[in-house]
Amino acid sequence: MPTVRDWIGSAHHIAVLTGAGMSAESGVPTFRDAQTGLWAQFKPEDLATEDAFRAHPRRVWDWYQFRRDMIARVAPNAGHLALAAFQQRHPGRLTLITQNVDGLHQRAGSTDAIALHGNLADDRWLDMPRDCCDPEFVEAGHPPHCPTCGNLRRPAVVWFGEMLPLPALDAAQKAANRCDLMLVVGTSGLVYPAAGLAHTAHRRGARVVVINPEATELDVVADLCLHEPAAQCLPTLLED
Ligand code: APR
Repeated sequence: MPTVRDWIGSAHHIAVLTGAGMSAESGVPTFRDAQTGLWAQFKPEDLATEDAFRAHPRRVWDWYQFRRDMIARVAPNAGHLALAAFQQRHPGRLTLITQNVDGLHQRAGSTDAIALHGNLADDRWLDMPRDCCDPEFVEAGHPPHCPTCGNLRRPAVVWFGEMLPLPALDAAQKAANRCDLMLVVGTSGLVYPAAGLAHTAHRRGARVVVINPEATELDVVADLCLHEPAAQCLPTLLED
């Protein structure tokens, strides 16, 4: 029976969709891991929303600062590095689509990663910026804000209930419509439209391989499920 390595070797275009499990072996808790410490009393769904931020700006800002500080202390793992190395060896053959906002794919050297849910490292204005709102001159605080009108800075990530950045979604859908192989790595497949990309690939007849130690909502569209951790599995799969 052909192996996944054969499928990768013969694929003209590979799309890779990653989720929080991709960063688990870097020490970053997944979304559906129980929150620890100070944040154990909150669920991400109760923090990662605009309503939560407007109601409790300091609490939400501090949660993101806590995550930024944690991510500054971790490094890309062998799975991130294997994907980046494959892209460098085979330019144009692999498109990386990630739900992760930790920037670890980019730090590993992946080029043109499609960040569907934005990036934790970036901020933007909460309300439409006025002439006085200059990102260069914000007043420090939790959160930082415009010293003139008080407009708050917010993390430039997609919160629950928010639209995904259309250019990223469009690029991801193009990749799902073009690929002849999709690797779905480290995602529970619970959140759309990201999870829908695997259905799109499957419907078109592309091969779909799910890499996840657990069963996922996307196993139904998988030609094969590899129940292995990403950082152990990807380096072997992607080596020439
Ligand atoms: N290797 C591969 N997969 C792993 C590993 C690992 N080492 N460790 C855990 N996993 C898997 C888990 O089994 C789980 O299926 O990673 C998945 C993580 O699922 P979630 O925590 O639901 O994260 P994700 O699928 O990325 O969530 C999607 O939902 O919360 C929102 O916007 C947020 O981007 C996030 C989106």
